[in-house]
Amino acid sequence: MNVLIVGSGAREHAIARSIKKSKIPNKLYCFASNRNPGIEAISEILEIGKISDPQTVSSFAEKHSIDLAIIGPEAPLANGIVDALLKINIQCVGPTQDLAQIETSKSFTRDLMKKYTIPGCPQYQTFSDLTNVAEYLKILGENYVVKFDGLMGGKGVKVSGEHIKSHAEAIKYCEQIIAKNGKFVIEEKLIGEEFSLMSFCDGEHLIHMPPVQDHKRAYENDTGPNTGGMGSYNDTNQSLPFLTNSDIDSAKVINIAIAKALKIEFGVCYKGVLYGGFIATIDGIKVIEYNARFGDPEAMNIFSLLQSDFIEICLGITNTTLSEYDVTFSNKATVCKYAVPEGYPDSPIKGELIDISKVENHDQLYFASVDIKEDSLIEAGSRTIAVVGIADTLQEAEAIAESEMMRIEGPLFHRKDIGTNQLINKRICHMKSLRG
Ligand code: AMP
Ligand code: GLY
Repeated sequence: MNVLIVGSGAREHAIARSIKKSKIPNKLYCFASNRNPGIEAISEILEIGKISDPQTVSSFAEKHSIDLAIIGPEAPLANGIVDALLKINIQCVGPTQDLAQIETSKSFTRDLMKKYTIPGCPQYQTFSDLTNVAEYLKILGENYVVKFDGLMGGKGVKVSGEHIKSHAEAIKYCEQIIAKNGKFVIEEKLIGEEFSLMSFCDGEHLIHMPPVQDHKRAYENDTGPNTGGMGSYNDTNQSLPFLTNSDIDSAKVINIAIAKALKIEFGVCYKGVLYGGFIATIDGIKVIEYNARFGDPEAMNIFSLLQSDFIEICLGITNTTLSEYDVTFSNKATVCKYAVPEGYPDSPIKGELIDISKVENHDQLYFASVDIKEDSLIEAGSRTIAVVGIADTLQEAEAIAESEMMRIEGPLFHRKDIGTNQLINKRICHMKSLRG
């Protein structure tokens, strides 16, 4: 079987490893935006090109007689890569362009939730000019969020009290969006603890993955600018320390309802990973956003736990036979931490050498934004390398990740607090205080 992975970050490195572990013999091809040495080492070909251009990717896929394509990042999905590949009979793990709107359009997702009365939708309104904006902000009071209605890598969202301090500032941000002919959503600010619950989805049936908590802020104690995610963890027994089983069940119910609504809305099955970004609040589980792909870094936690054959799962997705599979995950705790370039995310340095030779377990190292220059590893300007600790307790998993991280040399930084008792207790206390 010829398998294509589109994308070349740590998430795609994790996907690539799980493909090579499959009992189904396969050849791996990668269409990449940078030269990831981890993926390159296990691929027939890693070709660098415009991963978001459906035509370029389908030509590459056709040339190499690809049987199955797995789409890592959102930008190719937004541009209709799956529609292009399906046209030439290549089955895909990833939704078509219409269905990918669950990630690419904030207003689409909120409208879908409203239309199908899916639980967990905050109060919201969509705007394309300033009419009624001030009035709506007044209704929401101090707790509001302004979201650019499109892909911005998490950077299009401004939260009151964090990124914007007054209605006047909020309106200024709305004006910036309007000046670019953009639409925006203003919604109620939800207060609680965020988590990700991803499900494999064949359009009819969903298999849920364990919940994971990501850390969006660049610096320790959840301070600093938003990033793609600095690290993530899950506790033993497929849980998170601040969630109840009933919280996790609510998130699963919402993912199922979203997949069903998408099928009714478009008459097409959602095939791929449905990623619910949730927040546990005093009023129960609410939806922050949806993504149409694996989370990054969440994928590194999930693939560290997945015990079943990933190609079989992919075939279950593409053939709409997921209900026939018994997918299992280990009960271990995992902690994933990212090393990122100095200056990340606002002004990351680039091109500097990094040295990983002292790392003990290279199997738990995932390459992301790196390149090779004269046989040496260099930083390519975004999240650089991820390390995962896997153990019987969160404390041990954190200690493993942290000690390996300290063995990576170069002008990088990481968040030491991810997965530590101190930060986890803060989450537990926050949830307890909300729930009384
Ligand atoms: P998004 O791109 O929608 O995931 O938003 C990025 C980040 O903004 C989320 O991870 C949250 O931390 C925050 N956020 C988004 N929507 C809300 C909301 N309604 N209430 C509170 N925080 C939010
Ligand atoms: N970890 C957040 C994301 O993948 O969007």
